[in-house]
Amino acid sequence: NTVAGGAGWPAGPMDPFADTLQRLRETFSSGRTRPAEFRATQLKGLGRFLQENKQLLQEALAQDLHKSTFESQVSEISISQSEINLALRNLRAWMKDEKVSKNLATQLDSAFIRKEPFGLVLIIAPWNYPVNLTLMPLVGALAAGNCVVLKPSEISKSTEKVLAEVLPRYLDQSCFAVVLGGPEETGQLLEHKFDHIFFTGSPRVGKIVMTAAAKHLTPVTLELGGKNPCYVDDNCDPQTVANRVAWFRYFNTGQTCVAPDYILCSPETQARLLPALQSAITRFYGDDPRASPDLGRIINHKHFQRLRGLLSCGRVAIGGQSDDSDRYIAPTVLVDVQETEPVMQEEIFGPILPILNVRGLDEAIDFINRREKPLALYAFSNNSQVVKRVLAQTSSGGFCGNDGFMHMTLSSLPFGGVGASGMGNYHGKFSFDTFSHHRTCLLRSPGLEKIYAIRYPPHSPRNLRVLLTAMETRSCSCTLL
Ligand SMILES: *[C@@H]1O[C@H](CO)[C@@H](O)[C@H](O)[C@H]1NC(C)=O
Repeated sequence: NTVAGGAGWPAGPMDPFADTLQRLRETFSSGRTRPAEFRATQLKGLGRFLQENKQLLQEALAQDLHKSTFESQVSEISISQSEINLALRNLRAWMKDEKVSKNLATQLDSAFIRKEPFGLVLIIAPWNYPVNLTLMPLVGALAAGNCVVLKPSEISKSTEKVLAEVLPRYLDQSCFAVVLGGPEETGQLLEHKFDHIFFTGSPRVGKIVMTAAAKHLTPVTLELGGKNPCYVDDNCDPQTVANRVAWFRYFNTGQTCVAPDYILCSPETQARLLPALQSAITRFYGDDPRASPDLGRIINHKHFQRLRGLLSCGRVAIGGQSDDSDRYIAPTVLVDVQETEPVMQEEIFGPILPILNVRGLDEAIDFINRREKPLALYAFSNNSQVVKRVLAQTSSGGFCGNDGFMHMTLSSLPFGGVGASGMGNYHGKFSFDTFSHHRTCLLRSPGLEKIYAIRYPPHSPRNLRVLLTAMETRSCSCTLL
């Protein structure tokens, strides 16, 4: 049961994906997606999709997550549009063969890295930023010349509908398809062979994806989460820190993979931070955050129940209210939290911020290093040495000193996890590289046999010496071919 393109998948009438995947495979084999013009056309289509359906997307995001227009604009639509523009501006430069340095033995050859599309790639997107985390990888996959199967999250229903019904009209459907379904359908989809899988979601599902990929030796990029520590030094202005932390903890109602998950600070700093956090929350969301147009809601009942359970950990210092009729949870701060409590076992992914006390920087660093490597790590201090020490003595996917979130808005920086928070990265050129095979290429002269003959038997000490010298000596950058 091998189908054109070299993929071994169980074909048959029972398989809802077989026809689509075969069509995409055939397109890729035809070479259609490789020219820069074709890629640019797809990227422009993606840009038009965003421009012409901005209103529709904002409404869908409001339905799914009660996302404010501001947040939809900043963290979903504009950021995706910038990514498209960046890819369009740099496409040809990114696609260019990359010349590498040579030695004397290859001095007359042409040595370079060619960026080739993998072929048929699968993107599995999450529900928390259902536009951003779907389109950002898609930009990279299309820019790199792949055919793409996109699996948006079925949990963010309204956005899924727009992505499934409207987006394909803007792209060439011979190289792009949206597939729908929940865990069962995704499981079926993963039986198929892809050339790369890009997954954003939880570590638990990440393991399922990687296990399925292993059957076909398919490489994966896993954008997972984790509990992102936020160290707050005694040497800081509590109101500045509180503003920044509250902004990003409660952005998208805390349903953000890079949000600060918990604060580590001394009891003294906690005492100064609490009134500052209360003041920030009131300023941001008013006396009744429930009435604020700027505070979102929890995505579904299951997650709401999970989060409500976490409210009983430690002691509620700020907030703590919840209402399941509209899946509302107030911006909450918990204190007196023990490391063993449920709120410290899983990524919170909601508007709940526990504060844990440590005695000084060393204890904070120990605490961080005892746990899985997080996706993001934050340190606040007016002493740059403190920030640099946290950076030097810990590991995480990304790091941001004296703020949250902002490190992932720069497309010149790679975004991704390490250890349990994921593998591989993307954004900007890193996305293009993630979706490209870096092919080793050496074009040698058809002539020059006299020189090349030095490596053939019968061997002599002199030939060995010459050959080793030629291999160890860096050549000038001249190329004959
Ligand atoms: C650092 O100190 C300055 C001056 O006191 C203050 O304005 C600023 O908010 C402080 N920054 C932080 C992160 O604490």
